[in-house]
Amino acid sequence: MSDQLIIFDTTLRDGEQSPGASMTKDEKVRIAKSLERMRVDIIEAGFPIASVGDFEAVQAVAKAVKDSRICALARALDKDIDRAGEALIGANASRIHTFIATSPIHMQMKLRMEPEQVIENAVKAVKRARRYTDDVEFSPEDAGRSEPEFLCRILEAVIDAGASTLNIPDTVGYNLPHQFGHLIQTLRENIPNSDKAIFSVHCHNDLGLAVANSLSAVLSGARQVECTINGLGERAGNASLEEVVMAVRTRQDMFSCDTNLDTTQILTASRLVSGITGFPVQPNKAIVGANAFAHESGIHQDGVLKNRETYEIMRAEDVGWNTNRMVLGKHSGRNAFRTRLEELDIEFDSETELNAAFTRFKELADKKHEIFDEDLRALVNDATTTENERVRLISLKVCSETGETPVATVTLSVDDEETQVQMSGSGPVDAAYKAIEEIVKSNTELELYSVNNITSGTDSQGEVNVRIERGGRIVSGQGADTDIVIASAKAYINALNKILVPVDREHPQV
Ligand code: KIV
Ligand code: ZN
Repeated sequence: MSDQLIIFDTTLRDGEQSPGASMTKDEKVRIAKSLERMRVDIIEAGFPIASVGDFEAVQAVAKAVKDSRICALARALDKDIDRAGEALIGANASRIHTFIATSPIHMQMKLRMEPEQVIENAVKAVKRARRYTDDVEFSPEDAGRSEPEFLCRILEAVIDAGASTLNIPDTVGYNLPHQFGHLIQTLRENIPNSDKAIFSVHCHNDLGLAVANSLSAVLSGARQVECTINGLGERAGNASLEEVVMAVRTRQDMFSCDTNLDTTQILTASRLVSGITGFPVQPNKAIVGANAFAHESGIHQDGVLKNRETYEIMRAEDVGWNTNRMVLGKHSGRNAFRTRLEELDIEFDSETELNAAFTRFKELADKKHEIFDEDLRALVNDATTTENERVRLISLKVCSETGETPVATVTLSVDDEETQVQMSGSGPVDAAYKAIEEIVKSNTELELYSVNNITSGTDSQGEVNVRIERGGRIVSGQGADTDIVIASAKAYINALNKILVPVDREHPQV
């Protein structure tokens, strides 16, 4: 059996299915490039039939990424497969991932198909996908609740039809680790042609077991894991890439395989995905949380200073935590700025984008003494999220005083027309948001508003995340500034710019 564990990242597809995590084409390309730098083997770039935007995003990723294989998702339908094949035309290496549900409840209630029809459709889909690429993956959706005998039959048939990867999804996150590991073993042992395909797993985290189930499957012979950065994904998310990869790397005494990943890129990718989607990383999150390598108790600190292996099982720098961080300031020039960004693997598509980021850096350095890596990441996110920008903040003034009602005066440009409005509110942020809404008239509901400081100190930038909803559609927005009212306005405007772009999008599993 191969000693390589293939990492299939689905942040751009299943990750994007989290409500509010939708990404623009440019954002997807930036994440894909970060995954490529990490040496992720396969990047699932999207579901091309879903919308024109999704199709174009897969095309753009296929064009931009050369070292990772690019995959597109397709239901077992001719139109989906043709669209996926078309989107992948520019890719260096491509894969089509086609799927159909196989659990009794999905076949009866969702598909309204007999098991034989499901097998027929699966075989037909795989054969059609092979017209576009010789790398075809098949998933029996809801495999975790499917009958093993039926799985054996359908999987044997799709291997014969040309599928080279069999992905076993625990779609609803129902399985327990020993059970899921046993399922993989049963399939490998009972499908006559199982040696002709690689077994993959795709676990959801509804019971918090996605990583455990994936690892159990690897111990039973799965050689591909589907996962996402920060565990992003439908509902409770998917298995987190960083946890799977580091568990396998750290416990080489237990695993007879390892990934090819450059794990030092993990933190950068995590921060990028969090910044773009607005899904913050909880401080105690394994590997990438702010406290993942912080030792609070005196006993632990003492132990780590004497010998770090007393309390540390991994080295922080192996996942990208930088122990000797370089700090930039107002005297740092363009070269130092560019060099640090290169070290952080932050790339710009053009000199114009770099110049815009440098101008923001100078503005920030005037307000803030020391600029840390976290500041740079926030600043770059700010500088590159201007796609489809219909609403722009021209100016914001707030008056807030003890015993007085706060008032905000906001000037916005909407479709290049400037309007100024003054509104009062229960606080300066409330007043500013009311003024913005008065101008934009978006009719959205604010579902979430949160502020975090990016670094420590009162001169730190505040990072604001918002989530807004309209007609069932949820989008998030982010903004950063040393002034949290301005950061709040930027975040709200960022979200409005996303929701104002109409989308008509199909969900793969509905
Ligand atoms: O969770 C799931 O079953 C999926 C399939 C499309 C693989 O995302
Ligand atoms: Zn999924």
